[in-house]
Amino acid sequence: MNWNNVLPESELPEGARKVVKIGEQTVLVLRHDNKLHAVTNKCPHLSLPLNKGKITEDNAIVCPWHHSAFDLDSGDVKAWSPWPPVVGKLLGCLTKEKALAVYPVKAENGSIWVQL
Ligand code: FES
Repeated sequence: MNWNNVLPESELPEGARKVVKIGEQTVLVLRHDNKLHAVTNKCPHLSLPLNKGKITEDNAIVCPWHHSAFDLDSGDVKAWSPWPPVVGKLLGCLTKEKALAVYPVKAENGSIWVQL
């Protein structure tokens, strides 16, 4: 695992998010409540992009597709494909419940670094 310089810290003010590539991985980096987070940009449900997902007050990211929700610190599942009503539950059965991959992230020397 290496620390990767992904972008200047000035490009990620409070509330901002950026999608960066680290090798073959696409990583979503964001600053929420003045804390940095780095997660895979693929929802574990159907591998669709998470970067347009809403951030909730209880520190979760909600997938914009079927509204699965994941804790930003641990990646733990808070909701698994609850949407659309009725059909969402069926969609959820297509894949086993799986946590979101989260990566260590830090700000240092004016840059944002992600360990991967
Ligand atoms: S792709 Fe994210 S909940 Fe279905």
